[in-house]
Amino acid sequence: MKQLQVGLEDRAYPILIKEGLLAEIGKELKLRQIAKRYIIIADDNVAERFGGHVVESLRNADIPVDLLTFGHGEANKNMATVEKLARELARLGVDRQDGLIALGGGVSGDITGFLAAIYMRGIPFVQVPTTLLAQVDSSVGGKTGVDIPEGKNLVGCFYQPKAVFVDSTVLTELPHAELLNGLAEVVKYGVIYDADFFHFLAANQKSILALEPAVVEAVVAHCCTIKAQVVEADEREADLRRILNYGHTLGHAVEAASNFEIAHGMAVSIGMVAVNTIAVGKGLFAEEKARRVKELLQGFGLPVQVPADLDRQQMKEFLKTDKKSVAGKPFFILPLQIGKVVITDEVDEALIDAALA
Ligand SMILES: NC(=O)c1ccc[n+]([C@@H]2O[C@H](COP(=O)([O-])OP(=O)(O)OC[C@H]3O[C@@H](n4cnc5c(N)ncnc54)[C@H](O)[C@@H]3O)[C@@H](O)[C@H]2O)c1
Ligand SMILES: [Zn+2]
Repeated sequence: MKQLQVGLEDRAYPILIKEGLLAEIGKELKLRQIAKRYIIIADDNVAERFGGHVVESLRNADIPVDLLTFGHGEANKNMATVEKLARELARLGVDRQDGLIALGGGVSGDITGFLAAIYMRGIPFVQVPTTLLAQVDSSVGGKTGVDIPEGKNLVGCFYQPKAVFVDSTVLTELPHAELLNGLAEVVKYGVIYDADFFHFLAANQKSILALEPAVVEAVVAHCCTIKAQVVEADEREADLRRILNYGHTLGHAVEAASNFEIAHGMAVSIGMVAVNTIAVGKGLFAEEKARRVKELLQGFGLPVQVPADLDRQQMKEFLKTDKKSVAGKPFFILPLQIGKVVITDEVDEALIDAALA
């Protein structure tokens, strides 16, 4: 078992990574005494696949447990789902001695974390991420929340889990497109923070795509280490944490212009290549390095080109109204080297045009 720690003083928590950990969650929870009983929250897909295993694991450890579900998909990451689940918790008599288990991808993690933060003004929760994206990104760091029709993730709060339990074997059931979504974020960590990790990814592409357990575990552990370090330095995204948005400013514009038909990870992949073009254009990043990032993404089967049918003007409008733009000025994370980036809002429109070409 690999054990990492997110060092946030009184909100510090462990990340445990192990093959087959799903079956041992009950035992781990018993040891840690986070809550007296648990309510697992999962979407219908995940509940059907893994809900029973986790329930059994808690029962084997004599921990009272219930399972609540919601319909899968981003469309259900909303206030209506939160309210429905909160009412179910109330009907089950859940109180502040009890805890939630977010079982599933980022959607379940974001909903459950938010619900845990606001139900009875806060009850403990743990994350059991089952998509690659959730294992390397959304389960660590304490961002929780839901979408409203006016925008994604507009309602939410920072609320850290008490522990994160990662079982890499669950990824074998993940649809390939969902794996790719997570891989874009994995590449992101290499470019923003760690050149050695970037080279590791390039050298192990085949084993990663084949989901070789030891390699996948190493990748997940490495990404969680980086995310933990960034979150420790800047929990509430005042500064450093913004580097995690590498590829995301343009990626969000791609996502929005495609009416969310292009999935987040694919859009981020396109966004990373586009923003590298800006960095090269500004003379900050060597063209040869930009080519290497592009080749790594392509090697994983990720898209690297802004699709021709997306409206460039509309994308630029989205950039201005992005919730992270300040006074209509978007900021960009530009690589200086592989493993080192800079945050800037000084990018000429001509460079943006060239990047979206
Ligand atoms: N909180 C954060 O810091 C943060 C960071 C990044 C993304 N997010 C959020 O995460 C969400 C995206 O997360 P996601 O990509 O995990 O989506 P998701 O939770 O919708 O999962 C994708 C699909 O995979 C299915 N699934 C999950 N695990 C599976 C498995 N092991 N085998 C087979 N199918 C499985 C799910 O049922 C779902 O249909 C977005 O809402 C995004 O805003 C949050
Ligand atoms: Zn992302």
